[in-house]
Amino acid sequence: MKPLILGVLASGRGSNFEAIAKNCAEGKIDARIAILLSDNPNAKALERAKVYGIEARYVDPGPYKTKLSPEAEEEYVRILKEHGVELVCLAGFMRILKSHFLRSFPYRIMNIHPALLPAFPGLHAQKQAFDYGVKVSGCTVHFVDEGIDTGPIIIQRAVPVLEDDTAETLAARILAEEHKIYSEAIQLFAEGRLKIEGRKVRVLPK
Ligand code: GRF
Repeated sequence: MKPLILGVLASGRGSNFEAIAKNCAEGKIDARIAILLSDNPNAKALERAKVYGIEARYVDPGPYKTKLSPEAEEEYVRILKEHGVELVCLAGFMRILKSHFLRSFPYRIMNIHPALLPAFPGLHAQKQAFDYGVKVSGCTVHFVDEGIDTGPIIIQRAVPVLEDDTAETLAARILAEEHKIYSEAIQLFAEGRLKIEGRKVRVLPK
């Protein structure tokens, strides 16, 4: 099978990017990362890409804090298309994508969120869940739509909150599960097994 071509967008640490890169390299998913793009010139993700021999670029996001400028969106899309990207994976990318980007990759953009959506969308989701006092949290991979963490859900994994947890220890256990389910979702996509029906994503049998 021809590997699925991925483009990853990351703003910071890049541990989800690295987990995907590692699983691609080890043949655990039928995919290849063609390009990593970052809106942050100091993102650790850019350094991690070097280790895996993956092309990585900082692309100026423009003057806004929470979105890309229209010109920047065009540039991101242009580079992704130039690299033949079939699926865009947001991995800690801290900007909301607008319609030009979304229309360029319809239902071909995934995101990972460190809570069981629709609970605790937005920033610091692990701390939000911890402070609220939930007994179970977790993580979600979903397709991206115009909302914040609102798109159709592909995979969720529950992580129990332990009596002696802090927001940090809970976040670390959630992160370990993020690293697994993101690759699982990408593999389902690569196998053509994700069927979107309105808000629902059906996982077709093999
Ligand atoms: C992860 O917790 C992810 O769920 C959220 O941002 C964080 C990124 O971490 N969207 P990393 O850069 O992948 O290490």
